[in-house]
Amino acid sequence: MDKFLIQGNGPLQGEVRASGAKNAALPILCAALLTDDTLAIHNLPHLWDVATTNRLLTQMGVAVTVAGQGEVEINARSITTCVAPYELVKTMRASILVLGPLLAKRGEAQVSLPGGCAIGARPVDLHLRGLEAMGAEIEVEGGFIKARAGRLQGARIVFDVVTVTGTENLLMAATLAEGQTVLENAACEPEVVDLAKCLIAMGAKIEGAGTSTIRVQGVANLHGATHSVIPDRIETGTFLIAGAITRGRVRVTQTDPGMLEAVLDKLRQAGAKVSIGADWIELDMLGRRPRAVDIHTTPHPGFPTDMQAQFMALDSVAEGVGTIRETIFENRFMHAQELMRLGAEINIEGNTAVVTGVERLSGAPVMATDLRASAALVLAALSADGETLVDRVYHIDRGYEHIEEKLRKLGGKIRRVTQ
Ligand code: EPZ
Repeated sequence: MDKFLIQGNGPLQGEVRASGAKNAALPILCAALLTDDTLAIHNLPHLWDVATTNRLLTQMGVAVTVAGQGEVEINARSITTCVAPYELVKTMRASILVLGPLLAKRGEAQVSLPGGCAIGARPVDLHLRGLEAMGAEIEVEGGFIKARAGRLQGARIVFDVVTVTGTENLLMAATLAEGQTVLENAACEPEVVDLAKCLIAMGAKIEGAGTSTIRVQGVANLHGATHSVIPDRIETGTFLIAGAITRGRVRVTQTDPGMLEAVLDKLRQAGAKVSIGADWIELDMLGRRPRAVDIHTTPHPGFPTDMQAQFMALDSVAEGVGTIRETIFENRFMHAQELMRLGAEINIEGNTAVVTGVERLSGAPVMATDLRASAALVLAALSADGETLVDRVYHIDRGYEHIEEKLRKLGGKIRRVTQ
């Protein structure tokens, strides 16, 4: 099992390029199931979750061809089965994103019920209820979601809570349904907008993506297209914090500042000088210790839950006390215990963490528990005195492309050890 050996090494300086967005790539790969033509996807990040999705499609008989660096061509005409097996779904919950497209295009799907994960129970009831409202017959037995449908019927669906993949699943299903579908209280994340853009390129009729009300006029068929995935805003934010936590100066290129305004506001509140261009963001701490900031996670365009752990690491070494409220997931403070092993002073009360910044953390062995928690531990280790060994870095490989190479380029002392 791979580990990262990290040595605190002073301020990070330099420039890194943002990779394609994991959480846009995953639904867009599944969108290929909606057509018998070829969908060409560019700017795909080299991540475990992308490889898992490609494996999931391939084992269904879908043709997935690597067409170049970060480029695949997918053709689902030759699909032989509509089953997403447990051994793949248990490694990646986002496998649920094949459900909507398979039902819409093939009229059937069997998807292993995604279990919970470290950050919460993560039910998919809203996905299922929405598909039933569109005429699907769904039963859950033996750990499987078994769904069948004739042609799906357009419906008005109001989500009880904002769900990103729930919005994406139903958006994809609605593209081929009979009549109009209206999604209310829909997710507004940039990754939803990118999926909609790809679907529109394939011939879908969608209005309102990026707002809480999305309207879809079903069509009989979708055709092939070529789509380039947007930059990863969470990776971008993570590298900006790598600069902030080490009091350095980091520029992230080939990104989009418009996707993470709430995060940039918080970095400015923490005392960073943040400059932006059309496709780059530069953070400069001017050598100063960050100031503690308060965080309250909400759906987009509010502060993203996927940046919460990284800001807890930043608050751990900031001047003052920061209060972090996590409102999206019920158990997304697993990183707190590990940060405390590095000397952080954190009090957890329900979904609120009170972080009292210390001048310096001290390196120690720690364990990653989920994707963004592992990023937070790497950030903390880069700023700590001494050596930190981060275990279970397979979590980080799911969502960060070549993270150790990118951090080394900024002067970080980090290397992968396999034990
Ligand atoms: C997506 O997960 C992202 N994953 C997550 O990123 C991200 O943290 C999350 O959205 C919130 O922004 C992908 O896009 C692949 P939700 P998702 O459905 O769609 C509840 C990362 O680090 N809910 O928006 O699974 C749910 O329990 C990952 O890249 C229901 O109750 O999250 C949660 O409390 C982690 N019933 C809330 O909604 C449902 O049917 C938001 O979950 C669906 C969700």
